[in-house]
Amino acid sequence: MPDVPVSPAAPGASASSTKTFTIEDLKQYGTREKFYMLLHDKVYDVTKFLDDHPGGDEVMLEEVARDATEAFEDVGHSDEARELLAPMYVGDFVGEKKQKKSVTTKSGAVADKAASAGGR
Ligand code: HEM
Repeated sequence: MPDVPVSPAAPGASASSTKTFTIEDLKQYGTREKFYMLLHDKVYDVTKFLDDHPGGDEVMLEEVARDATEAFEDVGHSDEARELLAPMYVGDFVGEKKQKKSVTTKSGAVADKAASAGGR
């Protein structure tokens, strides 16, 4: 018998080769030594680009462990800038993003206090 590990996945499937990152992962790649950036639900290893960024490294480092899409788009980056992204792509983002505060529902005020009527 050939000692070759065969994947039970669909033949020719390559979807599993895409790496995924959560916000927790991004926190670990939030230093100058290793810096990942989240843009448009994709994760980029911009470590080497930090020094080359025409806008400076600081603005990029500020986007640590959060969605940098808005900051990136606000600047109105050129197509040239966008083309730089492809080679830095390392995977897709999954899970919760740190963004604006979510709206709290005001439905049904829970009467916690009132529950203990006639306590003492
Ligand atoms: C990997 C992500 C990024 C890439 C590849 C990138 C690339 C570039 C490039 C090529 C330019 C020159 C102008 C242009 O071609 O548009 C530029 C300028 C600039 N970028 Fe980025 N950028 C990135 C992320 C960011 C982020 C997150 C910010 C945050 C605010 C930012 C802020 C700026 C600013 C302020 C300039 C203007 C610099 C100037 O003209 O003095 N960039 N960027």
